[in-house]
Amino acid sequence: MGLNWIKRLRRTLERLAPTELANKDAVEPKAAGGTCPSTLLDEYVSAFPSAQNAVDLVAGWNHALPAFTGAVTGSNIPMFADARMDWCVEQFGTIAGRRVLELGPLEGAHTYMLHQHGPAIIHAIEANKLSFMRCLIVRQLLALDRAQFMLGDFQKWLERNAERYDLIVGSGVLYHMSDPVHLLRLMAEHTDAVYLWTHYFGDHAMPTGDPRRGAFSGEVKTVEFQGKTIRLHRRSYHQAWRNKAFCGGMQDEHYWMERDQILAVLGMLGFADVRLGHDAPDHPNGPSISIFARRPIGSAEGASSIRS
Ligand SMILES: C[S@@+](CC[C@H](N)C(=O)[O-])C[C@H]1O[C@@H](n2cnc3c(N)ncnc32)[C@H](O)[C@@H]1O
Repeated sequence: MGLNWIKRLRRTLERLAPTELANKDAVEPKAAGGTCPSTLLDEYVSAFPSAQNAVDLVAGWNHALPAFTGAVTGSNIPMFADARMDWCVEQFGTIAGRRVLELGPLEGAHTYMLHQHGPAIIHAIEANKLSFMRCLIVRQLLALDRAQFMLGDFQKWLERNAERYDLIVGSGVLYHMSDPVHLLRLMAEHTDAVYLWTHYFGDHAMPTGDPRRGAFSGEVKTVEFQGKTIRLHRRSYHQAWRNKAFCGGMQDEHYWMERDQILAVLGMLGFADVRLGHDAPDHPNGPSISIFARRPIGSAEGASSIRS
């Protein structure tokens, strides 16, 4: 009698608050017929230990891992051998022993490439939980012992501490920001050398009627920066964030800058030595470019050069 009463109570509680109950009670072993709902025993991997087991833990991989890992992600995009990162390091010079900050590592592909050059430390800050988990798996599989991945907002990191870096790598992040000018200013406060790969807005490269303009609302917000009016073009992801491989920003509302205005802001921030590469006005997602910018130490104010 007493036992039945307890069983009935337990069933009622399970209906009302299944999660809380599961947290309090030990999980029941799976029945021989496999009738038991998911239990902690389902979290075990009984296969032979492998890189693939680790990769399969997290959904939504965007890039192919180096073949020597022996694991496949379902993507064939070779981002772990990206010519843009070679170019970045070429412009900077050796990063051996240097401190690097990487914004939005996604899956650690560029982290891996930078790591091969022997930096002292790479701080890589990623806000997306799934991406962060993929980064940790990559860190383990590729032995990136000098890379420290952190989960959170890189803008807050830059706003709230005084760490200095020899190089800040911001590939694929500027155009995801709700205030991209603010990000440029923050980067400039922490380094004398930045690499950006970014999309940009431009009537010439992306004229009215160009299908790539479809994601823009048409709203143009202006912000003042050191007396100059900067135009920001509002864009939406149009629910691309429903996909686990989504790799955009934290808010749907994000703004693209114009190419010349990105360069103007960098110039006003003191980055007088600016080099351009990979200019692709016809990139399928919107015009894009690589920018390496350096603030020359002891250089005459106002002297600037842009090389492409
Ligand atoms: C387009 S992906 C670029 C990935 C990689 N850097 C590359 O160039 O291939 C943008 C990455 O930045 C991350 N991200 C966007 N906003 C962020 C923020 N405020 N703080 C940290 N990570 C952010 C996204 O989750 C995503 O992983």
